Amino acid sequence: MTEPQTTSTGILAAMYGAVRALQLYPAENDVVRHALAEVKNVADQILKQEGGLSVWVAGSYMFVNDLQVRLDLQDYATLAAFRELLRGHGVGRLEVDPKADAEDWQKALAMLAAEPSPGQPPLEALLDRMEAAGISRISVGPPAPMFEGSDAEKTTEAARRTYSRSVKVARETMEGLVLGKAIGARRAERAVLTVVDQVLQEPATMLGMLTLRDFDDHSYVHSVNVSILSVALGDYLGLNREQLFELGFAALFHDIGKVLIPPAVLNKMGWLNDEEWRLVSQHPDFGLLMLFNAEGFEELPYRGMLAVYEHHMKPDLSGYPRVIRRRRQGLFARIIALTEAYDAAISNYSKQFLPCSPDEAIRQLREAEAGAYDPVITRAFVNMMGIFPVATLVILDTGEMGVVVAPNPNPKALSRPLVRIIANADGERVGNGPIRDLTEMDPDTGRYSRSIARSTDPARYGINISDHVA
Ligand SMILES: [Fe+2]
Ligand SMILES: [Fe+2]
Repeated sequence: MTEPQTTSTGILAAMYGAVRALQLYPAENDVVRHALAEVKNVADQILKQEGGLSVWVAGSYMFVNDLQVRLDLQDYATLAAFRELLRGHGVGRLEVDPKADAEDWQKALAMLAAEPSPGQPPLEALLDRMEAAGISRISVGPPAPMFEGSDAEKTTEAARRTYSRSVKVARETMEGLVLGKAIGARRAERAVLTVVDQVLQEPATMLGMLTLRDFDDHSYVHSVNVSILSVALGDYLGLNREQLFELGFAALFHDIGKVLIPPAVLNKMGWLNDEEWRLVSQHPDFGLLMLFNAEGFEELPYRGMLAVYEHHMKPDLSGYPRVIRRRRQGLFARIIALTEAYDAAISNYSKQFLPCSPDEAIRQLREAEAGAYDPVITRAFVNMMGIFPVATLVILDTGEMGVVVAPNPNPKALSRPLVRIIANADGERVGNGPIRDLTEMDPDTGRYSRSIARSTDPARYGINISDHVA
C-alpha cells in the first residue's frame, strides 16, 4: 500500500504534470493523455481510501485532505510551481467529487493551464468558465480567510529565527569550550534538530538564509551555513532524520578546533609560515579532542567526531591530518568538505578573497581538480542546487531581474530554475513578483520565454536576497 504522504505529493505532482502537458501540447497528444490518466489513477486511489479529495493552499503550505504536504527538495520546485499556479488563479481550495470522471479532470485542468484572464478577478473568471463548461464534480474556491496574508512571511520569519538561534548557540558552545565550561550539549543538540526540521520542511527558504549578512561573527555563521547545506544535501542523498541529525551536528562543529588557534594566526593576511600552518592544520585534531573531552553528552557523538577529524582529509587522502594507514574518508566528512568549500566561496569570511556569486561557486566545485571532492557527492550537490542555485540574483534576457527560488523540477533543466521576478524590464522594482519557470516556451516563436543572461551581485543593487526567497 502506498503511504499517504507519497500519495498526496503524488496527486499534486500529477496534477501539475498534466497542467504543464496541456500548456505544451494539444489535448489529444499522447503526453497529455498519459498525464491525465496518471491524475485520474492517483486521485482514484485517494478517493477510494479516504472517500474524498481536497487540495488547500495556505500561504506557502499545501494540504491534501487536511494533511500538510511535506515539500522536500526533490518535489519542492514542482509543488511550489503548482501552488503559484493555483494562487495565480486565486484558488485556495480545490475539491473533487468521488464521481469525477476523466472528462471532468481534462476540462478542469485545461482551465488551470490557461493564463488567468486579465481585467476580471481571476477566481471569478475561472468560476464563470467552469460553470459554462458544465464542470460540476470538480470545484474551486478562495483561500480560507484564516490562511490568507503573511504565511510566506511567517515561514521566512521562522527560518530567520532558527538561523539566528543556531548562530547564537554555536557561538556560546564554542566560547564555553574555550573557557573549559561543560558544553551545553542538550542545547546544541536541540539547535541542530531545529535546523534539520526546518531544512526538511522549507529547504529553499533555509538555503536562502545563507545570504543573510547581518551577522558579524564569521566563524559561527560559517558553521551554521555548513550545517544547513549539509543537512539539505544529506536529505537529497536519502539519509534518514537520525543520520541527518548526526551530520548536522558534525557540520555545526566541524571547525570547533579553531577556537584553540590564536586569532592573529587565523585572520592573518598573506601566507602562513610553517609554524602557523602547522597550527592551523591541527584544527581537526583539536576538534576531535575537544568533543571527546566535552561533558554533558549522554552518549558521545562518535560519527560526528569522526567527520570533524576527517573533514580536510580529501578522498585521495592528500589533505590533513596526514594518514599513515590507508583508510576511507567517511561520507559525512565528504559532504562537509564540499558544503564548506561552497559556503567559503560565496562568503566574505576571508579578507583576501572576494566572495563569488553562487553560480560561480558551483562552477568552481564542478571544475575542481580530481581527488579534491567526492565526484558522486559533487554531482548530487550540483543537481540539488542547480547551475544557478537558490538565492542567485539573475538578469534575464527580457531585461527583468529575478532571484532563483528553486531548481527546475526537471532535473535535465539544470540551468533553467524557477525565478521570482523582482524588477520588470524597465528596471522598476516589483517587490515579490510572480515566480517564472524558465522552461516556459513562447508558443508563437517556439523559443524559451526567458533565459538567464547572467548572474549579478545583490550588493550592487542594495537587494537583500533573503527577503525574496520564500
Ligand atoms: Fe576546517
Ligand atoms: Fe570550515
